[in-house]
Amino acid sequence: MGETLSTAWAELQRLGSAPGADAIRPLFAADPARFSRFSRRSDGLLLDYSKTALSDAVLAALLALARAADVEGKRAAMARGDVVNTTEGRAVLHMALRGHQGVPAAAADVAAVKARMRAFTEQVHAEGRFTDVVNVGIGGSDLGPAMAARGLWHHGCPMRAHYLANVDAHAWETLRPTLDPARTLVLVGSKTFTTQETMANANLVKQWLGVHAAGQMVALSTNMSGTAAFGIPPERVFPFKDWVGGRYSLWSAIGLSLALALGWPAFERLLAGAHAMDEHFLHTPLEDNLPVLLALVECWHVNGLGLNARAVLPYDERLRRLPAHLQQLEMESLGKRVTLAGAPVGRDTGPVVFGEPGTNAQHSFMQLIHQSPRPVPVDFILVAKPDHPHADSHRKLLANGLAQAAALLRGKTLAEAAAETPALAAHREFPGDRPSVTILLRRLDPFSLGQLVALYEHKVFTLGALWGVNAFDQWGVELGKVLAGAILPELEAGAPTPGAHDGSTEGLMREVLRD
Ligand code: F6P
Repeated sequence: MGETLSTAWAELQRLGSAPGADAIRPLFAADPARFSRFSRRSDGLLLDYSKTALSDAVLAALLALARAADVEGKRAAMARGDVVNTTEGRAVLHMALRGHQGVPAAAADVAAVKARMRAFTEQVHAEGRFTDVVNVGIGGSDLGPAMAARGLWHHGCPMRAHYLANVDAHAWETLRPTLDPARTLVLVGSKTFTTQETMANANLVKQWLGVHAAGQMVALSTNMSGTAAFGIPPERVFPFKDWVGGRYSLWSAIGLSLALALGWPAFERLLAGAHAMDEHFLHTPLEDNLPVLLALVECWHVNGLGLNARAVLPYDERLRRLPAHLQQLEMESLGKRVTLAGAPVGRDTGPVVFGEPGTNAQHSFMQLIHQSPRPVPVDFILVAKPDHPHADSHRKLLANGLAQAAALLRGKTLAEAAAETPALAAHREFPGDRPSVTILLRRLDPFSLGQLVALYEHKVFTLGALWGVNAFDQWGVELGKVLAGAILPELEAGAPTPGAHDGSTEGLMREVLRD
């Protein structure tokens, strides 16, 4: 680690361990302009990070850290198509999928596949035969499209979209009776086309389609020989390149279910929103750069204040799958313990991410976030204008979101609690000074959703750059897959191989196998 970088980390640690480092209320008391000084906008999206303990000094230290870690140089390397995913030997070019022109060969490839996706989508809509599309895929081949479809679908849309991910066939048995095989298009989305769960589900759905399978199955993949072996002809394969990571793939052919369900113009607007955020990320100075600021806030929480979890609360029911998408995006990218060079990172990396839509979360885990000894930073995502006519419901929703963030900040002193209920004062005290950021969209539409998701993608990139980890590999998912491959034949044979597993696993195998 360079001397400047180690000095920058040391300064952050010094600031984080100073008395009162986590206090937020005094920052508001000292600065009536704090909201405007600690919030930024891009194309109608507002990021408010004033309800955090970022002081001017902390922000300056974080920006110095970002410069010492060469966030700008690493950002430029990704944009020009360098092999930044070194453990897999790949460039990282999901920005090309939404209009980034920095790598002409990638841009040309994207344009060719997009033209085919568009023609296919418009042909399906013109024929009008299919009412439903089922996307069979898991992880990045499911979560992004499933999240966006739930976020943007409305009753005026051309088709219904369904997502089949889990190898648990209860999922398929729940979905199957709702579908007519003659009117259902099936997309098998898998970058590798080898994922066990997806291939198992694709075979179940193929059987169910019966005579329709030959004409109604489409593949979204990088593996042309795999799709051919499955029986899908090349004209019904929509490819993408290995420089699209699974959790960054909703913008690629993996997003075909979105184009079919929402219509091509909506898919284009989704890409346009993400592209607008790409442009902002690539060209805005660090101090005004929304993804960078979001990353610096997280770095402060994790490395300055030792807070290793974060809750994501979208106050919009349509965004109910956003936490699930972010769980993969953030934890698969940043759940790393070694640097790009393979050395221990030496500090905490990606926090645990979880979430639920507000207001449901308030009646679930918010107790812990208000009163447990360890603060959990929160991302509140609010949408100013609804797309329904029930203004009163929407005001209640917004009032709750705003109130939760305000309550976390303000707290309730022991004296206030004692004045209300003397016997329960200790129970009814709220410590306050609990950090949150708020992201406010004017409306939830394809453009703003594209911006929002790309905001988080670039935040993840920035944190990867700060920590020096590879945010684009996922070796940690491999060991379990290998062990499942060893256990499966033993379950098929009806008995574990004695001594092949730890005692607990062997005991549990005997239990699940007994009558
Ligand atoms: O869980 C690991 C993983 O490789 C994810 O990164 C990926 O999104 C998912 O599996 C699905 O992979 P594929 O698209 O190749 O089926």
